[in-house]
Amino acid sequence: MAIVTIPAEGTVLTDESEIAKYLAGIGIQYERWEATHAVAPDAPAEEVLAAYGAEVERLKARGGYVVADLIDVTPSTPGLDLMLEKFKREHWHDEDEVRFVIEGRGVFHVQPQGGPVTAIEVVPGDLICVPSGTRHWFNLCADRRIRAIRLFQDPSGWTPHYTESGVDGDFQPGCFGPAYLPSQGAAA
Ligand SMILES: [Fe+2]
Repeated sequence: MAIVTIPAEGTVLTDESEIAKYLAGIGIQYERWEATHAVAPDAPAEEVLAAYGAEVERLKARGGYVVADLIDVTPSTPGLDLMLEKFKREHWHDEDEVRFVIEGRGVFHVQPQGGPVTAIEVVPGDLICVPSGTRHWFNLCADRRIRAIRLFQDPSGWTPHYTESGVDGDFQPGCFGPAYLPSQGAAA
């Protein structure tokens, strides 16, 4: 399950329905997906895409996405630091940023119009759709691992437009993890 925090309000959300409701209110689609058949996190891309084929097709029809692929990042991925450098500064895109996490985790920070910055830590099983034009940035967690299905309306349109606001520097880039949760009695 994702962990959603609103730092300005000191709020932490960990309940699926509360998360989905809050995120819908700021224009972010959030769902939990189950594979139609068992698939290992390190299964070949075609197998992973087939296991989630029904969900992918449903999203394609709903959002006008034409291409689905699998991004696979590990600490040894060539050029990883350069790649992460592009993601971690506040930006927006001309099309939706749609990710379904298979393995690993990371944090999207979203700046909704007229609302406080919201951090969404995504984990395996989480589908997130950040609509076109939404200001956001992304960091991997300390293990620098993520494997995720991506959907595109137009792959060539997936260009970051940087805001250069510097707001990304005001927020912790790291992940929270289960130890962060107040319900588990740990503060950090
Ligand atoms: Fe982005």
